[in-house]
Amino acid sequence: MPSIRRMVSMLSETEHQGVQVSAALRGEARAELNRLWARGTEFLGTEVAVLGGAMSWVSERTLVSAISNAGAFGVIACGAMEPARLDEEIRATRALTDRPFGVNLITMHPQLDELVQVCLRHKVGHVVLAGGIPPSTAIRALKDGGARVIAFAPALVLAKRLVKMGVDALVIEGAEAGGHIGPVSLTVLMQEILPHVTAVPVFVAGGLSRGDAILSCLEQGAAGAQLGTRFAAAAESIAHENFKKAFVRAAARDAVTSPQLDPRFPVIPVRALENEGSHRFVAHQAEVIRRFHAGELTKEAAQLDIEHFWAGALRRAVIDGDVENGSVMAGQSVGMVRAVEPVQQIIDDLLEQAEQAILRRKDARPS
Ligand SMILES: Cc1cc2nc3c(=O)[nH]c(=O)nc-3n(C[C@H](O)[C@H](O)[C@H](O)COP(=O)(O)O)c2cc1C
Repeated sequence: MPSIRRMVSMLSETEHQGVQVSAALRGEARAELNRLWARGTEFLGTEVAVLGGAMSWVSERTLVSAISNAGAFGVIACGAMEPARLDEEIRATRALTDRPFGVNLITMHPQLDELVQVCLRHKVGHVVLAGGIPPSTAIRALKDGGARVIAFAPALVLAKRLVKMGVDALVIEGAEAGGHIGPVSLTVLMQEILPHVTAVPVFVAGGLSRGDAILSCLEQGAAGAQLGTRFAAAAESIAHENFKKAFVRAAARDAVTSPQLDPRFPVIPVRALENEGSHRFVAHQAEVIRRFHAGELTKEAAQLDIEHFWAGALRRAVIDGDVENGSVMAGQSVGMVRAVEPVQQIIDDLLEQAEQAILRRKDARPS
């Protein structure tokens, strides 16, 4: 059989940027992609090692099932849901897809144990534990109940600790991502963690929007990728039209982290589109700090006041469509969201871009 390079040169019509590439070449490129993310697809039970990152208010039955039906892995965002509500959401998602999907639980949820039981009752295959180092009791309960546990590792030392605690896979999420974020970029996290954590599959997240970029991560040792921002603007996302329009309009630089005015009053960093609300947040902090200095507020009351500013703000943006005052959480990859597209189209584009990149590399290799 001729080498891929030879086949490329034999095809006068081959155009790697376009669509005129023979089916045989495409098949070879797809096979290589499948080999590169085999650990991820085997772990998830999918064709495509891409997770639709859980997004509160956004990742519900419609989007989650659309992602799973497109061959990737949808994840329900439990967020602040009560156990009964999660039960209903899992049931409804199952009615829309027979493919694998997961559930994301926030570790500080007061009913974490009950939520774990809901997942186990429904035989949810994969549970993502987000929002800090998960309690070992939750990891144990999930694993004993037959579920696979995925956790976020913000640094190498924590990645190693989580592996020792028994998690089955990790997500490393760079500061480019939308929503609550850590301080380190994905580029650095990948170099810090991927060469040293091989016991479990590691998925990468933050700023990813193209298949060729995902391919580079796989080549560095990632098992697959998690995308949020791109799917939030998908046609199947229930996010308000205004929310999606704001995504389509935004440039990468518009997705900024929430500013903190005084280190004595920490602000949990969240990446969202700059808007009226984020401007008012700065003024609000300044006013609260002034009142603290004037003796009108205790330190604790001032901290709570700052924390409460964004209460309900994501819902306001996602569901009500108030993109000026709500929290329009978005990653820097928002700059690459050009249109509201069906999930299947997004997945097809990612595959196409990864395959084209594989073909270009083979073509450039000396014979
Ligand atoms: C609107 C929005 C809401 C999010 N909510 C959550 C959440 O509830 N739980 C969670 O673990 N991650 C949450 N994330 C993070 C995503 O799951 C995902 O890891 C992240 O979006 C990946 O980076 P990207 O935005 O650059 O694609 C959220 C992200 C966005 C954009």
